[in-house]
Amino acid sequence: MSRLIVASNRVVDLEKGIQSGGLAVALGEALQLGRGVWFGWDGTIVESEGQLGLKLSQQNSMRTATVPLTREEYESYYLGFANKVLWPAFHYRLDLAVYDSSFIEGYRRVNARLAAQLAALVEPEDLIWVHDYHMLPFGDELRKQGCRQRIGFFLHIPFPPPEIFRAVPENVALARSMFAYDVVGFQTAGDTNNFVRYIVEQCGGEILDDDRVRCFERTITASAFPIGIDADAIYEMAHTPEAEAHISRLQRRSMANMFVLGVDRLDYSKGLPDRMKAFRRLLEMHPEMRKAVTMMQIAPPTREDVAAYAEIRHELEGLSGAINGEFGDFDWTPVRYIHRIVPRGTLAALFRGSHVGLVTPLRDGMNLVAKEYVASQDADNPGVLVLSKFSGAAEDLEEAILVNPYDTDEMAIALHRALTMPLEERRSRHEALIDRVRRRDVKNWRDSFLAALRSEPLSGARRDMPPIAAAAG
Ligand code: G6P
Repeated sequence: MSRLIVASNRVVDLEKGIQSGGLAVALGEALQLGRGVWFGWDGTIVESEGQLGLKLSQQNSMRTATVPLTREEYESYYLGFANKVLWPAFHYRLDLAVYDSSFIEGYRRVNARLAAQLAALVEPEDLIWVHDYHMLPFGDELRKQGCRQRIGFFLHIPFPPPEIFRAVPENVALARSMFAYDVVGFQTAGDTNNFVRYIVEQCGGEILDDDRVRCFERTITASAFPIGIDADAIYEMAHTPEAEAHISRLQRRSMANMFVLGVDRLDYSKGLPDRMKAFRRLLEMHPEMRKAVTMMQIAPPTREDVAAYAEIRHELEGLSGAINGEFGDFDWTPVRYIHRIVPRGTLAALFRGSHVGLVTPLRDGMNLVAKEYVASQDADNPGVLVLSKFSGAAEDLEEAILVNPYDTDEMAIALHRALTMPLEERRSRHEALIDRVRRRDVKNWRDSFLAALRSEPLSGARRDMPPIAAAAG
C-alpha cells in the first residue's frame, strides 16, 4: 500500500494532539491509515541556518516531519509573499497587496529548501498531497529533486479571476509551476473556472475532457473538491454535559434571550466591521430588538505581524465600543467581542446556544464555521444560518439566508428575518442544510481527492518531465 505524505505550511502538533478542527482530523486519519507522514513548518523561528534540520516525531501510527524557518524566511516567505501578496490578492484585495521583490525570492527559496528536505524522505510508491497557497511551487520543486510520485495540490482559499491573478508578481511562473502536479483541487466550481480561464486566456491552455487541462506541454486534472467537516464529532461536542452547562450559563447570565454568534480569525477577509455595522442597523431599524438580542463575536488574533491585521483590530474595537456606548444599558451589553482563542468544545456549545450563526466574509475559500454551526444544532429547534454569498460554503448551503456582506441594510433585514423565523421554516431549512453537510463531509473530501490522485494515469510526459524553468510573470 502506498504511503500518504501530506505537506502543508502548518503541521498538527503531536504533543497537543489532533484537536484543531476538520482538516487536521481528516488528514490525521488518512495519515494513520496509510502509515503516512505530515511534513511542514514546525511554527518556530531560528536565528541561524545551521538549525534548520528536520525533526521527526511519532505518536501511534501518526508521524510528522517538521522544520523551522529562519527569521528572514519567516519574513519573506510567510509574512511576505504568502500573507502580504497571495492572501490579499486571492481574496480579491489587491489594494492590500505589498509589492517587494524580496518576497517572491524568499518564497521560492523556502519552497525549494523544504522540497529538498522532503525529497530525502519519500519512497517511490508514495502519494504526495500538498496544501494551500504557501506551497504553490512545492510540487515543481519536488520534481526538480527527481520526485516522480503522483503529487496533488489542494488550494484552501479562493482562486481569483484572471483579471486579479494577473496582478500577482510572476503569475505565469506560478501557474506554470502548478502544472507539475497531477491533480490541482479547488474549493468550488467558481475557483476552478477562474483558474482554467486564466490558463486558457493568458497562457494559451486547452480544456480537455474529464476536468483535464493542457498547457506548458503537460496535462493535469483541475477540479472542485469542496472541503467538509466531521459533522457527528461537532454534534457530539455540542451535546456533552459541559456544553449543556455552558449554554445554561449563557442564558442565565444575559438579559437578552437571543444570541447572534460569529466566530472568525480576526482577518480583513471576514467582513467583521461590516457585520457589526449590520447589527447596529438592526438595533436602529427595530428598537424592539434592543435588550432582546446580543451579538457575540469571537475573533482570535492572527498574523499580527502584518500591518493590515493590526488595522482591522483597531477598527473592530472602535466599532464594538461605539455600539455598546450608544445602545448599551446597565443591564444589557449589545456586543460581546472576544479577541482570544476559545476551546472547540465551548465554541460548539455556543453554536448550539445561538439563535443565529452570522457568517459573512467578504470572500472565503469555504468557511467551515458555517458547516459547524449547522452541525451543532438541535433538529427540533434549530438556529438560522446567515451566510455570505461570497463564501465557498454558499455554493453548497443555499438554504441558509444568503446575503451580500457589503450591503448593511440587506444584512440587517436578514438578521431580523432570522431572529423572527417561524419554527417550521427553521426546521425545513436545517433539514436540507444538515443533509448536505453530512453528505459532503471531510471524509468524502479526502477520499474523492485521493481517488482522483490515484486514478491519474502516469503520463509519458510526466515521467520524463524536465524541470520547469522560471517564466516571467
Ligand atoms: C487559513 C489558511 C490556512 C492557515 C490558516 C491559519 O485557513 O487557508 O492555510 O493555516 O488560515 O493561518 P496561519 O497564518 O496562522 O497559518
